[in-house]
Amino acid sequence: MVDPEDVYRQTTPGSRGLHEKAVRFMPGGTTRSTTYFDPYPLFIDRGEGCRIWDADGIERIDMLGNYTAMILGHAHPKVVEAIRHQAARGTAFAAANAIEGELAEILCEQVPSVDQVRFCNSGTEATMFAMRLARAFTGRARIARIEGGYHGTHDHAEVSTHPDPAEAGPADRPLARPDSIATPAWALEQTVVLPFNAPDAAERILREEGADVAAVILEPIIGAGGVIAATTEFLERLRRVTRELGMLLIFDEVISLRVGPGGAQKLYGVTPDLTTMGKIIGGGLPVAAFGGRADVMELLDPRRQPNLAQGGTYNGNPLGMAAGVAAMRELTPDVYEDLNRTGARVKDQLSEVFASHGVAAQVNGVGSLLAIHFTPTPVTDYRSKATADDRITRDFFLGLVNHGVLMAPRAMGAISTPMGEDEIQRFVDAVDTVVTEQLPRWQAAG
Ligand SMILES: Cc1ncc(COP(=O)(O)O)c(C=O)c1O
Repeated sequence: MVDPEDVYRQTTPGSRGLHEKAVRFMPGGTTRSTTYFDPYPLFIDRGEGCRIWDADGIERIDMLGNYTAMILGHAHPKVVEAIRHQAARGTAFAAANAIEGELAEILCEQVPSVDQVRFCNSGTEATMFAMRLARAFTGRARIARIEGGYHGTHDHAEVSTHPDPAEAGPADRPLARPDSIATPAWALEQTVVLPFNAPDAAERILREEGADVAAVILEPIIGAGGVIAATTEFLERLRRVTRELGMLLIFDEVISLRVGPGGAQKLYGVTPDLTTMGKIIGGGLPVAAFGGRADVMELLDPRRQPNLAQGGTYNGNPLGMAAGVAAMRELTPDVYEDLNRTGARVKDQLSEVFASHGVAAQVNGVGSLLAIHFTPTPVTDYRSKATADDRITRDFFLGLVNHGVLMAPRAMGAISTPMGEDEIQRFVDAVDTVVTEQLPRWQAAG
């Protein structure tokens, strides 16, 4: 039987060596918890298109694309040129610049809810400011969120992202559970947790807790938490109830913006009050944004007293803005359509592979996003996702790394534009090989 960890150790001495050095200077040898995995993370040397090369020179298909951000692949010539051009002209000034206006205009034109936008540097900041803005606008303190959704790593976001179901209360009335050893008690008290895709239960909870809830924040398509699409009914119900109860509706489209021009909100035809964005909008540089209704965004206008201050030394820096403009201009409706068509095809092919081996797996996919859940239960919310077998997922992930593909350790991935027939076939073949190789281990473990 093939132990994927043994193979990984044998084939990645370069990464191991770099990690041994890095742990002396950084906790866990990394600066990003989500890229760490046992026994040590892969160190990437370079990327081009949908391919990446690790510290040992091994080439792999990048099915993760920096957690879905690299929709055009790595080192896209137009993006590289925009960065080169801007780098030579200066990268950051304590002043406004014309390019942020260009990216702002693109987002306002494309995303239905966005009348006005502000930039920041990460999705974490975007959701933090959106929540803060909602509190300022409504004068209410609490935020309602979805169990199993992900909104980054600030205090108010680190609640019930991945709770132990045994400690998280009933599925239709989830408890607020801390995700982090640092989650403060106030964040739990000021969070209302809603089940996903359960319109009646969510409405009941919001009516009970409504008086001091400023906003409901959710991903219309849960991304990092397993590529789980909301039903239209769920989004429409939240839209109606939040409006009635005086709460803002925030769509966190940091990942789901990649499903089409204007993101998931355009696809569903449900328009929130505020939207958070990130990943693809920076062309591979650290750019994120939050935007929405002009009468809400206006609280950020420094000409107004009082106003909500938003600092950030690198907010809207011309380097990130130039990369973002170059990338967003490449993303025409046809490009999204191609990506989504490929996504649908890969989803079907993977389902066939698992079925042919008799492996109980759910292949969730929306547009160019994919996630594989090793469970016989259809994955439609956090509790169904939590039935997946973590051990099989880990073997699968490491097995794929060994066979030339990088996905997220939770078996999530995304199609990028440089992926052609060959790369897709290589990915599907690698999945087939890994399942063939690992099946005896999975069967032996019962
Ligand atoms: C939906 C969503 N919101 C927020 C974030 C946080 O973004 P960042 O990692 O840029 O802070 C992420 C990151 O994956 C995300 O998927």
